Amino acid sequence: MRIGILTSGGDCPGLNAVIRGAVLKGTQIHGQEFVGFRDGWRGVVDGDVMPLTRKEIQGIAKQGGTILGTSRTNPFEGDGGVDRIAENMERFGIDAMVAIGGEGTLAAAKRLTDAGLKIVGVPKTVDNDLGATDYTFGFDTAVQIATDAMDRLRTTGDSHSRCMVAEVMGRHVGWIALHSGMAAGAHAILIPEQATSMDQIVEWVQSAYDRGRAPLVVVAEGFVPDHESDVHSERGLDAFGRPRLGGIGERLAPVIEERTGIETRATTLGHIQRGGTPTSYDRVLATRLGMAASDAVVEGRWGRMVALRGTEIVHVSFEEALDSLKVVPQTRYDEAAILFG
Ligand code: F6P
Repeated sequence: MRIGILTSGGDCPGLNAVIRGAVLKGTQIHGQEFVGFRDGWRGVVDGDVMPLTRKEIQGIAKQGGTILGTSRTNPFEGDGGVDRIAENMERFGIDAMVAIGGEGTLAAAKRLTDAGLKIVGVPKTVDNDLGATDYTFGFDTAVQIATDAMDRLRTTGDSHSRCMVAEVMGRHVGWIALHSGMAAGAHAILIPEQATSMDQIVEWVQSAYDRGRAPLVVVAEGFVPDHESDVHSERGLDAFGRPRLGGIGERLAPVIEERTGIETRATTLGHIQRGGTPTSYDRVLATRLGMAASDAVVEGRWGRMVALRGTEIVHVSFEEALDSLKVVPQTRYDEAAILFG
């Protein structure tokens, strides 16, 4: 069997480990052959493929990014569509596809599977926002990078007696903020799931400062203060019509400074969180998911995604995967909030 692999959506530490896991298990155990589509759905639509043998995947588990390239191309726009993709699969002798991606990628994979194409999915997102899997690879790395950055911000905060605001990614959920903020000992963690007031934020900052601490405020890019109704977005929409987020930290900092009189600086960690080498946890999870994707092709599990439940790899339908945004539960926030201020 010949399998086409693609990585789509934002890059994520661990993508290469998935590719390696799938190719190694597939070639060594199942006698499968692989090709890579370049730049996600763009390569599928344009018929842009590259070889994916044991040689290409040597030593890549520790490399960040993706050797296949990625894009946020919508496969149903422009020259795309089911017929075009089916034609390209036939042209390259591809029997099935492994689509590694987040919500947008899986939604496209579902439409194509519903139209009869053979696709299995592998969940990917640093945001950890897919309800059908306990953890996604890339999340642990993003949290580690954010924690390291906050440790560094705190030394500057301490030296200058400043309030430091660190903005992290996560789209509409606060997992990266919650975990990195807790690990770094933040005095306030602001997440989309909790519409916190400015009065409350100022109180936490002031109380940490009054105890002689340099306050650290961690804010998720999707946080909406309780006096506002929309998420902060100043960079338009992505290819799937979703607002690009980022910039709320820069907006909060002057308000905190004005209301407390404490000199305040904001840092947006941005794409640094998705860059560089994956942690060992992410490499292992990604490798296991890649191997499971190769098995899922042998088993003909079209329209299903491999996922982590506890410590086991399981299979869930694309519907189930797309159905539930995994938000931070109230109990996890309440537990973290005990440490604020
Ligand atoms: O979904 C992953 C993510 O990193 C989000 O946290 C962030 O909002 C978005 O992607 C950024 O996308 P881009 O790389 O296209 O700017």
